Amino acid sequence: MQSLRELLQEAQKTGVALGHFNISDLVLVKAVFAAAREQNVPALVGLSEGEREFVGTRQIAAFVKSLREEFDFPIYLNADHTHSLAKGIEAAKAGYDSIVFDLSALPFEENVRQTKQAVEALKSINPSMLVEGEIGDIGTGSEIHESAPDLAKGLTSPQEAKQFVDSTGVDILAPAVGNMHGMLKSMVEGETKKHLDIPRIAAIKKAANIFLTLHGGSGTEDEGFRKAIAAGINIVHINTELRVAWRHGLEQGLAKHPDEVAPYKILPPAIDAVKQAVAGRLRLFNGNRHAAQSA
Ligand code: G3H
Ligand code: ZN
Repeated sequence: MQSLRELLQEAQKTGVALGHFNISDLVLVKAVFAAAREQNVPALVGLSEGEREFVGTRQIAAFVKSLREEFDFPIYLNADHTHSLAKGIEAAKAGYDSIVFDLSALPFEENVRQTKQAVEALKSINPSMLVEGEIGDIGTGSEIHESAPDLAKGLTSPQEAKQFVDSTGVDILAPAVGNMHGMLKSMVEGETKKHLDIPRIAAIKKAANIFLTLHGGSGTEDEGFRKAIAAGINIVHINTELRVAWRHGLEQGLAKHPDEVAPYKILPPAIDAVKQAVAGRLRLFNGNRHAAQSA
């Protein structure tokens, strides 16, 4: 099995991006795994601190490892949006493949100082764990927001990106490039889309020369994703779209079986709904791979 670093190096060469999908229950894990297997493309599942708290940091690591081993399939595990070194150490000890060490809310210099310390501490526990750092403001919460925050002032500049990468030693950078966590109601209804700053992504890639993650992927226009990947994005995070699908699917399952109490009979429509959402994104992120396979 390739390491996550090797996989990203290959993705970079072939012009595809690795899909990162947040999970917080068995429905979501089963849906992501099924969609990835059906297309035979790798997937990264991630859990924020809150999601890990709910599922169990070590328990989900054991579950993902068992899927990877039993099916010999490239599914990887990320400790998403981790705000303290103590939580990062927990994930490193549990065998996570990567971590998003997110101190983007702190002033830049403080973010640099603490991220550098975290890189050293985490690599001393697990040298092959990839550490991602975050700069800029992309808002918080994979939820449905009433209104869009003003994020224009928090966009990442290529100079900052280079300085952050050079001074911290992170493996991956998450910049603010027009992306935003969560969705507006109009996005859930498909009336509006997020638009990315593609020239900024290209300039950051050129300056920092590092793997780049796009957070806040839900509700982004398809063409925006294609161009962002061509400009240097290597990982794309999707959460809210899956949560919306999960809820709709669950409602369908409950409505279909009003008197049922067995979870495994109620939940399949939720798995299907999430699986479809994941499948659409995987097809888009792996467009070049699919094209090469069918050529
Ligand atoms: O880390 C999680 C993601 O950045 C998800 O963002 O909820 O807008 O898809 P999203
Ligand atoms: Zn995120």
